[in-house]
Amino acid sequence: MESAFISGLLHDMGKVILAEKAAASREQTALPYSTSETTRLKLEEMAFGVTHAEAGYLLAEHWLLPPIVGDAIRFHHSPQLEIPPKAPTSIVFLANTFCQMAPKQLKEDVVLEGKALDVFNTLEMSEVAFRTSLKTYASMASEIPAI
Ligand SMILES: [Fe+2]
Repeated sequence: MESAFISGLLHDMGKVILAEKAAASREQTALPYSTSETTRLKLEEMAFGVTHAEAGYLLAEHWLLPPIVGDAIRFHHSPQLEIPPKAPTSIVFLANTFCQMAPKQLKEDVVLEGKALDVFNTLEMSEVAFRTSLKTYASMASEIPAI
């Protein structure tokens, strides 16, 4: 799963592009860091005409990265739009979703909704297996000192 690893590293590189674009303009286009991803994507679309996922996808194409990596970057917030769904996108989506949760949230029973449940099918992973992995991750994450 080298493509999932590379996609995971690069999935938010579009944020750098948009930040550079905002810095180059005189407009106040800085996006609040604490907004939800859905809100952030809408604000990006309004401010720049493109989301960081789309900007990252375009850069991936420009750099001639493998299409599977570009697609994972493009759809990492909306894996349901990728046809057919691919494992790297699903892996980046899940990792991104759970990295944004606090370790305390992960210890509780996470409520999984539509997109997350769909990606289990793509990954041919049961929800039980996923929850077991998540609890392992949560206990490991709680041992990492806060920065
Ligand atoms: Fe993102």
